[in-house]
Amino acid sequence: MPSTLPSARIRPANVLDAPAIAAVHLRCWHETYGAKVPDDVYAERAARGPAEWEQALSDPNGPTTWLAQRDGEAVGFAQAVAPGAGHVRPLELRLLYVLAEEQGRRTGTHLLQLAIGDAPCQLWVEQDNARAQGFYRHHGFELDGERRAVAAGGALTEVRMLR
Ligand SMILES: CC(C)(COP(=O)(O)OP(=O)(O)OC[C@H]1O[C@@H](n2cnc3c(N)ncnc32)[C@H](O)[C@@H]1OP(=O)(O)O)[C@@H](O)C(=O)NCCC(=O)NCCS
Repeated sequence: MPSTLPSARIRPANVLDAPAIAAVHLRCWHETYGAKVPDDVYAERAARGPAEWEQALSDPNGPTTWLAQRDGEAVGFAQAVAPGAGHVRPLELRLLYVLAEEQGRRTGTHLLQLAIGDAPCQLWVEQDNARAQGFYRHHGFELDGERRAVAAGGALTEVRMLR
């Protein structure tokens, strides 16, 4: 059901945002993957996430992370990277997460536009994540048949989408 609320405000994240982004990241994992991810993986993410985000957001050579906030609270984020030579696309949408309570307000669309614009791009998405796959198809991506079991210590299987 489309929302009448405006999209969240979006800006580049900085190191002071690390705790908030780590918290949204973990919450989105729970909301999206639930019991598919073992408890010990969640515990490890909860313990290490804030420091990893602090390190990532302190790196002057790191990619931009786009942070969405509503009423000053973090509600989503996105990050794109250059995957390196030999990849099927020169750009990868590595992270795009919007809290469940914020979904359907075009915040995901605006994060995606800031992170990758209309560029050719690749991404990996969990094989049963029908909502995200539909969203990406809506934005011009198609499955290309590639799959991998890497995320969450191999607990999740991801499929690749290309645009
Ligand atoms: C996938 C996700 C990023 C989408 O963000 P969102 O803010 O809910 O999406 P939006 O409100 O911006 O979607 C708006 C547009 O996408 C379309 N859309 C959304 N979901 C869709 C779906 N499943 N199928 C087709 N179209 C879809 C809407 O119709 C709308 O189109 P319009 O702009 O032309 O009116 C968000 O649901 C999310 O973070 N999910 C949980 C985490 C996740 O799965 N992340 C991806 C990991 S790879």
